[in-house]
Amino acid sequence: MKHRSCLAIVLAAGEGTRMRSALPKVLHRIGGRTLIDHVLSTAVAAGGVELAVVLGPDHDTVAAEAKRVAPGAAIFRQAQRLGTAHAVLSARAALENKPDDILVMFGDTPLIRVEALRRLRDALAQGAAVAVLGFTPANPAGYGRLVTDKTGLVAIREHKDASAAERAIGLCNGGLMALAGEHALAILERIGNDNANREFYLTDAVAIARAMGLAAVAIETSEDDVRGINTKAQLAEAEAVLQKRLRAAAMDAGVTLVAPDTVFLSTDTTFGKDVTVEPNVVFGPGVTVEDGAVIRSFSHIEGARVGKGARVGPFARLRPGANLGTDVHIGNFVEVKAATIEDGAKANHLAYIGDARVGAGANIGAGTITCNYDGFAKHRTDIGAGAFIGTNSSLVAPVKIGDGAYIGSGSVITKDVPADALSLERAQQTIKDGWAKRLREMRLPRKKDAEAAKKP
Ligand code: UD1
Ligand code: MG
Repeated sequence: MKHRSCLAIVLAAGEGTRMRSALPKVLHRIGGRTLIDHVLSTAVAAGGVELAVVLGPDHDTVAAEAKRVAPGAAIFRQAQRLGTAHAVLSARAALENKPDDILVMFGDTPLIRVEALRRLRDALAQGAAVAVLGFTPANPAGYGRLVTDKTGLVAIREHKDASAAERAIGLCNGGLMALAGEHALAILERIGNDNANREFYLTDAVAIARAMGLAAVAIETSEDDVRGINTKAQLAEAEAVLQKRLRAAAMDAGVTLVAPDTVFLSTDTTFGKDVTVEPNVVFGPGVTVEDGAVIRSFSHIEGARVGKGARVGPFARLRPGANLGTDVHIGNFVEVKAATIEDGAKANHLAYIGDARVGAGANIGAGTITCNYDGFAKHRTDIGAGAFIGTNSSLVAPVKIGDGAYIGSGSVITKDVPADALSLERAQQTIKDGWAKRLREMRLPRKKDAEAAKKP
């Protein structure tokens, strides 16, 4: 089949007032990514080479996010929100390029899958001028209804404009639509606003195409694919659907999720073979977990690499830039940030390792802190291979601990320590024989006197 060019237009000029948030609706996140990121990425994956995003006049932060995700995307502004057809026509310059296929997507409908978009485009390739994504919701109230007859899709009737008979139709408009580029402008320009809302409805494209003697079809998909987000509750529902998909994909790829419903993933979480994830683990964006690693319960991991066979948690926190080599152990209440922990190194309990390198096989004792911040700037700590950092040590950066060096417990290290040296920084220990016993003898009689005084 001939290659067909494709323009995807993402509508996101809405205010999203029902989110009750200072953040524009499409900048809210699910699976660690903004809604608009999901939509644009799916459009690209479905072959949308050309991208157009329609935004409100004051949506500069959304424009920046769209450019971050898809640098080539053209940004169009819809000055007044006069309806979905009006919004599409705001991207007129892109429409005038006459792409073969035009996909109209909504910025607040992030769960749409590539497969559904491909089916819409296939319908165009087979001759339809308009292809509409339909679904059968449990409760159709509020949605446009797909009016069909023997000849196919004849119209979409918005809920407010629908007759009682039309409202009884179960098949609804998911909102997303594909238009043949050849006819799109002619169709869109004929759309008026003679309806209950006085809005230019994109949905009128169906009846207009039919009146022009063109074909329109409905392609049915799941409710999840077209789930739109208007409220925080719907945001949470969409997150739940996405998490279900991500967990299923991880398990299909061989990851052992002991309690899948309690593990939160990002769309870019990458797992090797034979990884085990215990209950209650959160993966933020940018995490790679390599073969055979085990992530134990209550760990929070973001922007990190976990090397082969490594063990993380329970109760570990890996922040962006944590880079754990093979067989590294990061145990309970250990936080790692912007630090490379080389093969076989261990920090098993209660430590903060930030802006650091920990050499291969080094051992970081409980209570070790890299003091990386002096109130103004961050500084680095470099710990050599095989070094041993005694418990409760403060390593005041910038500082270098040589290979195989030994730091005595409770030290405050401010100077570099050469390889294989011992560094100890601790007050002299004083022992006073019998001191505690004498204290008790002094105190006990007084306590007895006090109790006696209380009695009437
Ligand atoms: C739309 C459909 C309806 C469908 C429903 C599915 C139309 C006329 N109706 O209704 O048939 O069942 O989606 O959820 O298309 N937007 C703009 N500029 C505008 C108006 C809207 O950019 O002037 C954007 C919104 O930001 C949003 C999308 O278009 O991303 C859809 O608009 P919305 O108001 O949510 O349409 P619905 O009433 O839900
Ligand atoms: Mg809507």
